[in-house]
Parts: sequence; structure tokens; C-alpha cells
Amino acid sequence: MKALILSGGKGTRLRPLTYTGAKQLVPVANKPILWYGLEAIVAAGITDIGIIISPETGEEIQLKTGNGDRFGANITYITQDQPAGLAHAVKIAQPFLGDTSFIMYLGDNLIQDSLGTFLDQFKEQQLDGLILLRSVKNPTAFGVATLDAQGRVLKLVEKPKIPESNLALVGVYFFSAEIHRSIAEIQPSARGELEITDAISHLIDRQGNVQARELKGWWLDTGKKDDLLEANQIILDSCVSTEIAGELDDKSQVNGRVSIGQGTKIINSIIRGPVVIGKDCCITNCFIGSYSSIADTVTLIDSELDHSVILQGAKIEGIHQRIVDSVIGQRASLQRTHHRPKALRFMVGDDCQIELT
Ligand code: G1P
Repeated sequence: MKALILSGGKGTRLRPLTYTGAKQLVPVANKPILWYGLEAIVAAGITDIGIIISPETGEEIQLKTGNGDRFGANITYITQDQPAGLAHAVKIAQPFLGDTSFIMYLGDNLIQDSLGTFLDQFKEQQLDGLILLRSVKNPTAFGVATLDAQGRVLKLVEKPKIPESNLALVGVYFFSAEIHRSIAEIQPSARGELEITDAISHLIDRQGNVQARELKGWWLDTGKKDDLLEANQIILDSCVSTEIAGELDDKSQVNGRVSIGQGTKIINSIIRGPVVIGKDCCITNCFIGSYSSIADTVTLIDSELDHSVILQGAKIEGIHQRIVDSVIGQRASLQRTHHRPKALRFMVGDDCQIELT
């Protein structure tokens, strides 16, 4: 059994962060999203892992993630020259996958359920496909499954305008080598991509043994800002424990579960967990509210923050109005000047969103 993680794509819904970096490396609770999937796969006992990367962001993913040693895995990187669809990614990974069964995992998905139980069922019942479903409020944004009364999969449609059910396809799939034969038969969809939903439908039509299971725990597809903040909240809720490696002065106060990395200095500030703060940050005269993740080398001075994600090297100074529900990119700088006339001065990149409420 092998695994294939898809970590290409353009990440258009997370712009502007994805102009300069891969969406799968955007951190959730200070850890790249991609690594959660990798760890879940290794925890299920699979260590031979291929990662599909794009020419634009592949190098950064390889540099950060490495050859797999740190995860106890052996990683093979496979470049997909253009975002030609999920089934196309499987097609180009065929030399790596060979005739083995595999888990296909979309690198921007996070699920709470462990993979082990599904994997056991997939193996025991010698399935050709096992798909995971979850009921959602906005099925038009996903692949959607129609099941019969016995729970068998009748049909899958990619992002239907009029969905037949509210059961969305989660980005974690289990396949036997039969999927390659279906991928070889399908044609690109109207948006020009080889769709995995079409390949699975083809497999079902060929009497392949495809089953579906509904997820019990949460599922997060971190494609957009609010999903990212929700993922951050859920992971901080379940994973953060108090661990203070940095320094706090006597005027600072920490409540609840807070993790503070080495070399970080907290001066005259209040931190209300769950909060995770990385290494070598400088936080002076601030309030940091629950569900905030602050990456390494961030500087926060005279500012208030709540339910937000601050990426590496960002600097926020003198913003007294509380910053909430925000994602601030790497090395971004938000500063209030003390000159007159008092005004807001911006240099804002493409696709940024600023709301003064
Ligand atoms: C992809 C799949 C879709 C699935 C979704 C889950 O969509 O094509 O069927 O429901 O992942 O995250 P994308 O996120 O690439 O639009």
C-alpha cells in the first residue's frame, strides 16, 4: 500500500497568500496543513508516499518537507506540469504507484477520523474504491454523491449546479490499481480537467466494488480564509498544551493553554489561550486573544489580536483597534504612524481584503 498526496494547484481561493507560496504550506496552529495529512498517513502504517507538486511551488514544498525522514516516511516528489485535474495527477504518478493500492489525499484537507479503520475495511473487503462523504450546507462547491437506499454509490458529480444530495466527497480516497484503467478511459471535463469523480463513476459503471463511508468527526477543506481560521480554531482546541520555552516578564499574564516557542519574549502583555506562538517573536504591550496562531519571528507591539493567524516575520505595531478573524501574510507590516495628519496609509498587494469595521 502506498499513498499519493496532491499538493499542486494554484490555490486561487487563498490569494494573496498563494501568490508567493503553496496553499498546502499555509500553517494551521503553526504547522503546514500538508504535514497533518502526512502524519495521518504514516500513523495508518503507510510510509511509501508520493507527493504531487507544481513547478511554481514544488521547490518550497520539497525544501520544507524534505525526504520524509522527519515523518518516518520515504517521500517521492512528482511534478505535475499543469493543473490538469486530480485524475491527471494519478495518471502521472502511475510509474510510482505501479500495481499497488493507494490512499489519495488532497494536501489541503484535514480530517479528524483516523485513516486506519477505513484502510482496514478497504483491505478486508478487497474494494476497488472507498470514498469518504460528509454532509455539507454548500454541496455545489464539491464533488457530490448520490447513494441508493442501501448506501451504495450510484453516481458522483463534480460541483453540480443542482446537487442531488448534500453529501460532499471528502478529499481522501482509497483505490486499487483498477482506478488507472478508468482514468485511461475518461475525457477531460467542461473545465478541461481529468476529474477523479468521473474516474470513480466510470469504475462504478464497470462494476468495480466502490463503497462510501460517512465521516464522523470534523472535516476541513482549508481552501479559503474562513476555512483556514476554522481549522486553526479546531486544531488549537484539540492539540495545544501549555509549553512555555520563551520568556515572560512579571507584567505579562497567560491564561489557559498557551505554547510559546524558544527565544520569544513577551513583555507587558496578556495572552488568553488556546494560543500558539512560535520561536523568536517579540510581543510588547499586547493583548492576544483565544484561537490565535503566531508563527516564528513575528513582532507585535501596542496591538490587540483575536482569532487570527499571523504568518512568519509579520510586524504589527500600534493598531489599537482589535484585529479579529484575520490572516496576515509572511513579512507583512501593519503600522500606525505618529505623524499628522492622522490617516491610514496602505501599500496593499493584489487580492488583499481589508475591512475597517
Ligand atoms: C476537490 C474535488 C472535489 C472534492 C474536494 C474536497 O475539489 O474535486 O470532488 O469534494 O476536492 O476538498 P477542489 O477543492 O479541488 O475544488
